[in-house]
Amino acid sequence: MEKIIYNGKLSERAKIKVDIEDRGYQFGDGVYEVIRVYNGHLFTGDEHLQRLMESAESIGMKLPYSIIEIKTQLNELIRVNQLSSGIIYLQVTRGVSQRNHLFPSADTVPVFIAYTREMQRPTAAMEKGVSAISVEDIRWLRCDIKSLNLLPNLLAKQKASEAGCFEAIQHRNGVVTEGSSSNVSIVVDGIIKTHPATNLILNGITRKVMLEICRQNNIEIKEETFTIEELLQADEVFLTGTTTEIMPIIEIDKSKIGNGTPGTITKQLQRYFKEKVAECCSVPTKAQ
Ligand SMILES: Cc1ncc(COP(=O)(O)O)c(C=O)c1O
Repeated sequence: MEKIIYNGKLSERAKIKVDIEDRGYQFGDGVYEVIRVYNGHLFTGDEHLQRLMESAESIGMKLPYSIIEIKTQLNELIRVNQLSSGIIYLQVTRGVSQRNHLFPSADTVPVFIAYTREMQRPTAAMEKGVSAISVEDIRWLRCDIKSLNLLPNLLAKQKASEAGCFEAIQHRNGVVTEGSSSNVSIVVDGIIKTHPATNLILNGITRKVMLEICRQNNIEIKEETFTIEELLQADEVFLTGTTTEIMPIIEIDKSKIGNGTPGTITKQLQRYFKEKVAECCSVPTKAQ
């Protein structure tokens, strides 16, 4: 029987129902995280939980548990569901209260859930590369908060899918921000450029891992904005994301990037990323 975490306790998934006045359900009033699990281990779990706390604080919410408590719950969930390769989705909403735009009274208990899903690494796509379209970024100005309000992201991703593409790369007035569910970087003359971690993008954990890899391996990286023209003219383009990992983009708006195959630096980053995963997660957990 599949288990989930519901307000701090392991529960059977089939027995948990969402209240129609849960503020997450009615307003998207909450925050979430997706954490990768490799070989039964949380990958960059602390960084994701730290970001969850920051997202919650940014919308005036306090997490109902400490990061250590949440981590213990998540590891227990991985164990009971015998998850080896997959993800944990977790979200916290401002709780259940009579519908009103104002925040509910201070004693309203946030609703915290987490569940697991099996998922393999996207190895075929990472080897071959994927295509993307560019779309206008129509989101709000606090994209650094991992909020449940994802409607513009969904519209962008759907448009990409309808065009036969993997991702939609968003831009504001011609300046590239990020993908609908990933960060975007380009490589020009051996130097990587990626949007600075401002309010206009989510400060991706995989982006952070990529920055660390670059620092450790003397790969030059600039946290600077770049335009759609620079994107289309770049030698290489790649996405970073928890489930996407490091994903080469070989075509945008039907125009080839470089020679239309994954670039040398992107492939190098993929190898270093795999090493990072191995460092963290190569020894199976006891439950596996
Ligand atoms: C809008 C957006 N940007 C970037 C990312 C990548 O972030 P991370 O590497 O933490 O998964 C995501 C992940 O879902 C996202 O939704």
